[in-house]
Amino acid sequence: MKTLIKNIKELVQVENSPKLRVMGKEMARIDTIKDAYLIVEDDKIADFGPMSELKEQTFDKEVDATGRMVFPSFCDSHTHMVYAGSREIEYIDKIRGLSYDEIAKRGGGILNSAKRVQEASEDQLFEDALARLEMMKNLGTGAVEIKSGYGMTTEAEMKMLRVIRRLKEASPLTIKSTLLGAHGIPMEYRGCQEKFVDLVIDEMIPQAAKEGLADFIDVFCDEGFFTCEDTERMLEAGLKYGMRPKIHANEMACSGGIQVAVKYNALSCDHLEYTGDAEIECLLGSETMPTVLPGAAFFLNMEHAPVRKMMDAGLGVAMSSDYNPGSSPSPNMQLILSFACVNYRMLPEEAINATTINSAYAMDLSRTHGSIARGKVANFYITKPISTYEYMPYAYGENKVERVFLNGKEC
Ligand code: NIG
Ligand code: FE
Repeated sequence: MKTLIKNIKELVQVENSPKLRVMGKEMARIDTIKDAYLIVEDDKIADFGPMSELKEQTFDKEVDATGRMVFPSFCDSHTHMVYAGSREIEYIDKIRGLSYDEIAKRGGGILNSAKRVQEASEDQLFEDALARLEMMKNLGTGAVEIKSGYGMTTEAEMKMLRVIRRLKEASPLTIKSTLLGAHGIPMEYRGCQEKFVDLVIDEMIPQAAKEGLADFIDVFCDEGFFTCEDTERMLEAGLKYGMRPKIHANEMACSGGIQVAVKYNALSCDHLEYTGDAEIECLLGSETMPTVLPGAAFFLNMEHAPVRKMMDAGLGVAMSSDYNPGSSPSPNMQLILSFACVNYRMLPEEAINATTINSAYAMDLSRTHGSIARGKVANFYITKPISTYEYMPYAYGENKVERVFLNGKEC
């Protein structure tokens, strides 16, 4: 099957020599072609260039994109989008001034979602998540990482991971799965959380590995959650089964999580509101992608991670949605682009790189996803008629995506 997308007003983020990630000053650059064509063969990008250079050939399908732009699909490298029910009551409690701790004491927070996931059937979790993936797809996302973490028991964590496995089979999105056994401390383990860490190491990790359910391992390594020592124990156990770490770090405090991530060659460390000079220094020269989650910082009204400082120091930065019912109940990566520009003072080019190639890197997908390059998976969207690519972050809250192609097929 050979498809031509023709008369593209601007083909955004093309790469002739694809990079695995972009860092520092490079983040402010994206290459584009005006009045362009894009050729897709089966599920891959075969070629692209200016219309004036399009050679005479036959196609099975032609799409006229006059007035419209083509972007590589967003890569959303951090989500918790398998969950049961919503938590808007806690949201109101927060507006009324209750703290995270007070909400947790009322049975809210992560433990609230855990109770609901434990009670939900695997089929219900699957159906709900599939509907959310459809929403993500229509907003321009083509690849997503999904974490467990609302299970809190081995049984419920494996149920979540099996749901993710079914989603991988049923959805056109590319999906990576992460075991986040250590997301919160169940009530019965308060005061003896090392026993819960033992459970993650002795049961959850081996069982997930045995069934081939997890690509990566995650830990909420932060003040009030899991310590650096807990985290190291769990990451070592995961690495024995080939699960590369991607960890939650430095959202609550300068807790040492970034250093642990680098020590264990994590693919990414995520959140990073509390990132100082020592953390930036530690990340420089590492393979770990600092990943910022602007939706959670917005929704929880938090300090912003020092993204400009990180990029000035030479680091690459990725951005993702953190889609979850507690701290970021939105799957919309177009909004992440806008938050990146307004709240983190990123240029549109930097925001686009953060949400595509760098977020692809953060889930080990940048060889095949995250830009328009020959041989990459044909995951892209055609916009509605728009004036410039800068219009994407500028017109916040509006869905600028008109048509979506994943694996070369319109869907
Ligand atoms: O990434 N920070 C930790 N975990 C989630 C929040 C989960 C929840 O509140 O349900 C996050 O923001
Ligand atoms: Fe998260």
